[in-house]
Amino acid sequence: MRVLGLETSCDETAAAIVDGERRIIVDLVLSQLDEHRPYGGVVPEIAARSHLDHLDRLTAAALRQGGMTLGEVDAIAATAGPGLIGGLLVGVTFGKALALASGKRFLAINHLEGHALSPRLSDGIAFPYLLLLVSGGHCQTLLVAGIGRYRRLGTTVDDAAGEAFDKGAKLLGLGYPGGPAIEAAAARAEAAGADPTQFALPRPMLGRPGCDFSFSGLKTALRERVIALGGIGRLGEADRDALALALQEAIAASLADRTARALARAQGEGAAPTALVVAGGVAANRRIRASLAEVARSAGLPMVAPPASLCTDNAAMIAWAGIERLRAGAGDESLVAARPRWPLDPDAPKAVGAGVKA
Ligand code: KG4
Ligand code: ZN
Repeated sequence: MRVLGLETSCDETAAAIVDGERRIIVDLVLSQLDEHRPYGGVVPEIAARSHLDHLDRLTAAALRQGGMTLGEVDAIAATAGPGLIGGLLVGVTFGKALALASGKRFLAINHLEGHALSPRLSDGIAFPYLLLLVSGGHCQTLLVAGIGRYRRLGTTVDDAAGEAFDKGAKLLGLGYPGGPAIEAAAARAEAAGADPTQFALPRPMLGRPGCDFSFSGLKTALRERVIALGGIGRLGEADRDALALALQEAIAASLADRTARALARAQGEGAAPTALVVAGGVAANRRIRASLAEVARSAGLPMVAPPASLCTDNAAMIAWAGIERLRAGAGDESLVAARPRWPLDPDAPKAVGAGVKA
């Protein structure tokens, strides 16, 4: 079985072909980072236009590089949500048109399901497992029990962890995207012998009941520290890097605490997860990986982190989710519409103070 996957929910245009033997035949990702960088974040209209400009040629390139025609794939799977509606419409409409023209089945994939199932593509791991999804748009723990069986244990009540990195980097004048810039600045501070407690920031939600995340208070605390030091214009490089280190420490501690609670809850309820899986762009952070590895070790579980190419947004995970869903009996979904909000676990209780995040 071979599935062509399409991903257009945010700022990556991606097309990939994956087969039922977990082989990634081709995996193409076109990042729009340079188009959004001048604005310090993703501009939805620019993203949608860029997907429209590139998706057809990228798909043709995927088929060419995969050495096959559309007639040789079994189905076409496109991300139908959650995400930016303009981009979703481009991917879904294009995918449906291809399916219709070639007589193939169309599958409407939940982007979060793509992330949730990606460790089965990379590492072949068995259900159930606990997933921590940490990206610019998402911050949640999910118990992945089987195809279509997802239970959200915690989610953010305000910003995602990646947003905390991005907004923190903006406050410190470190550029976009913020995560890699903060990690590099923190490494410089450590190399210079900075004391991580010098500018200690609050550890959001630490020790609080439940498993939800919160990061907006951290941003406020960081802004206050910058102001107390005379404002961004007067901030020396050493202090700026030490603040980046403090921010990274606070985010890492908060993620570890909340994830440990989610694992304990899953284990306490008898779910017996086989692993802690970490996915999303923030999972690239070495400090965060180390603290989560410690959480997994304390719970007696392995930590699995798919390779970076599968951790950040990509179409291979969308194609793979299509394969898993076809095997589970999914039929044609050409009548399913794109949707900006689409929680994986519709029964999850709303996080206290939750805004627009899925
Ligand atoms: O998964 P991703 O590529 O895209 C989505 O948001 O869907 O994640 C991007 C996020 C950005 O917020 C970026 O700042 C963050 O991941 N990120 C990192 C690192 N690399 C990327 N955060 C912390 N440390 C990193 N090394
Ligand atoms: Zn994503």
